[in-house]
Amino acid sequence: MKGLILSGGRGTRLRPLTYTRAKQLVPVANKPVLFYGVEAIVAAGIREIGVVVGDTREEIQAALGDGARFGAKITYIEQDAPRGLAHAVLISEGFLRGSPFVMYLGDNLIADGISSLVDEYRRIGCNSQILLAKVPNPEQFGVAELDGDRVFRLTEKPKNPRSDLALVGVYMFDDTIWEAVKAIRPSARDELEITDAIQWLIDHGKTVHPHLVSGWWKDTGKIEDMLEANRIILDTFSPNGLAAVDSGCRVEGKVVVEEGAKLVRSIVRGPAIIGAGSEIRDAFVGPYTAIGPDCLIDRCEIENSIILRGSQVVSIPGRIADSLIGTNVRIHPGAERPRVHRFLIGDNSEIGIV
Ligand code: TTP
Repeated sequence: MKGLILSGGRGTRLRPLTYTRAKQLVPVANKPVLFYGVEAIVAAGIREIGVVVGDTREEIQAALGDGARFGAKITYIEQDAPRGLAHAVLISEGFLRGSPFVMYLGDNLIADGISSLVDEYRRIGCNSQILLAKVPNPEQFGVAELDGDRVFRLTEKPKNPRSDLALVGVYMFDDTIWEAVKAIRPSARDELEITDAIQWLIDHGKTVHPHLVSGWWKDTGKIEDMLEANRIILDTFSPNGLAAVDSGCRVEGKVVVEEGAKLVRSIVRGPAIIGAGSEIRDAFVGPYTAIGPDCLIDRCEIENSIILRGSQVVSIPGRIADSLIGTNVRIHPGAERPRVHRFLIGDNSEIGIV
C-alpha cells in the first residue's frame, strides 16, 4: 500500500496563524500535527508516501524532507489551488495508480494510529474503507447514512444532517477511485468533494466499508480543536527532564522539560511541556500548556495554551488561558490593566497591552 497525505488547503479557520505558516505545521505538544500523520502511516507499514502541497509547499518540504528521518520515502505532489479533497486524489494518480492507498488529512490526529485500520482494510478486501465517528455537530462535516453496516449516502456539510456520523480524515481506496474522481463535477463551493467520489463508488456497486472509530480523533482546523488535541497528547506524556529544574521551583504532574530549558522560581503544573532553550521565570505554567522552544515566560500565569517558538510573554497581570500564540510574538504590559486576556495572535506580532 501507499500513503497520501493532504497538506495543501487554505487554513482559513486558523487565521491569522495561517497567513504565515502551514496549518499542518502548527505544533501539538511541541510536534507539528503533520508529523503525527506521517508517523501513523509509517507505523502501519507504509513507506511510500505522497504529500499534496499548495502555497506552503516550501515550508512543508523543509519540515518533512525526503522522509528518511521518518523511515519513509516522500514524493511531493503540487496542487495549483485547493480544489477539493477529491481533486488532491485526482492529481496524485501518477504516484498512486496500481496500488491501494490510505489517504490522510494532514491536519488530523487519530488515537492509536491507523495500523489496525489498514490491516482491516487489507483483510476485508473492499474497494474503499471510510472512518466514521459520532459528533455533536455533524453539519460541519461530511456525514454518512448507514443501512446496517452498509453506507448508502454521504453528504458534505449538510444543513439538516440525517445522521450524526461524521467522516474522519482517513480513507482507504483501491483503483476503482480513479473512475470516480474523474466522473464527479465540482460542488456548489467549487470543489471536487471526496464525499461525491465515494457516493459514486456506492452508486456503481462498489463496496464501501464503514469503520466506526471508538477512540478520539481531532480535526485541528480550529483553535479549540488544536487546544483539545494538545490536551489529549500532553496527557499521554510521562514526566521527563526534571533533573535540570532549579530547587526554587515546584513541578507537579506530567511535565516534560526539554534540553536546555531553564525554570527559575516558578510553578509548573502538568500536563505541560517546556521547549528546548526556553526560560520560565517567576511564572506559573498551568495544566495543558505547550511552550515551544526558545520562549520566555516571565512574571505571568498561563494555562491551557500553545506558544510557538521564540515568543516572549512578560509581566502580564491576570492569567492567560485558552490561547494560541504564534512564533516570535512579544506580549508585554502597557499602562493599564485589563482583567481578561484571550489571544489568537499571528507570527511576528508584537502586542503592547494597554
Ligand atoms: P480542510 O480543513 O477541509 O480545508 P482547508 O485546509 O482549506 O481549511 P479551512 O477550511 O480552514 O480553510 O482540509 C483538510 C486537509 O486537506 C488539510 O490538511 C488541507 C488539505 N487540503 C488539500 O491538500 N487540498 C485541498 O484542495 C483541500 C480542500 C484540502
